[in-house]
Amino acid sequence: MPTRTEIDWYDTPKWYDLVFDEDTPLEGHFLEAMVERHGRSRGRRALEPACGSGRLVVELARRGWRVTGNDLSRPMLDHARQRLREEGLRARLSHGDMAELEVTGRYDLAHCLVSTFKYLPTDRAAARHLQRIADLLVPGGLYCLGFHLTDYGNLRFDRERWVVHEGDTEVVCNIQAWPADPRRRRERMRSRMRVREGARVHEQETHWWFRTWDAPQVRRLLRREPRLELVAVHDFRYDPDIEIQLDDGFDVLLVLRRAAD
Ligand SMILES: C[S@@+](CC[C@H](N)C(=O)[O-])C[C@H]1O[C@@H](n2cnc3c(N)ncnc32)[C@H](O)[C@@H]1O
Repeated sequence: MPTRTEIDWYDTPKWYDLVFDEDTPLEGHFLEAMVERHGRSRGRRALEPACGSGRLVVELARRGWRVTGNDLSRPMLDHARQRLREEGLRARLSHGDMAELEVTGRYDLAHCLVSTFKYLPTDRAAARHLQRIADLLVPGGLYCLGFHLTDYGNLRFDRERWVVHEGDTEVVCNIQAWPADPRRRRERMRSRMRVREGARVHEQETHWWFRTWDAPQVRRLLRREPRLELVAVHDFRYDPDIEIQLDDGFDVLLVLRRAAD
């Protein structure tokens, strides 16, 4: 019988990485395409709040960006540093909260994808995060922010499943979202991973809460940081040629540009 433990899934960055690394080159290409199209600054300094296991840190460093990232998970940061070392790349990574974003420097590009923004638990924390991003971007710099919007009318569970193989390891990851609580603006989340390494099988699960956002709530939030102008909306296909409207779908990728000082 496999054992199942309750754990923070960011304590096992190797498996997180195996599951979520697949789209990384596509995302890297998309971010550069956005800079090319909408950016007004030609530097190559990138900032990733909540950079996690470093999949995009490594991808952008490979593409010649000088990358800075922070994260609250030390195992994820250690894993990111290890990946950089293995590739002979460098980046500036630190432990810290993405609301306060206590990093120095100015940046031409910042990005936060795959719904990570929804870890910010309140409107106040989200507004503070945008304020810090605006402080840290140079005029004409871009912030690409991708997250899943909430359909408050949906009363069913949402489920997503990934299966990946590497050598004799198989990781199956199921993520479930409970229907959102519109009053408290949060949704309960669970990830379950089943890892088979040769003959050994291990199962683990993690529970957390996400802040919920629909399109009007996002618009209200953006009005609180007028230095960031919404210049385009895409979706999780990461296709630079497919733009959508904020109200068109639930997987949104906002391209925000820092106004002149
Ligand atoms: C879904 S992972 C995304 C990691 C990375 N950005 C990527 O695209 O693969 C979410 C990350 O957010 C981090 N995180 C959650 N809340 C945070 C916070 N308040 N400040 C900084 N990092 C946070 C977690 O530790 C985890 O590494």
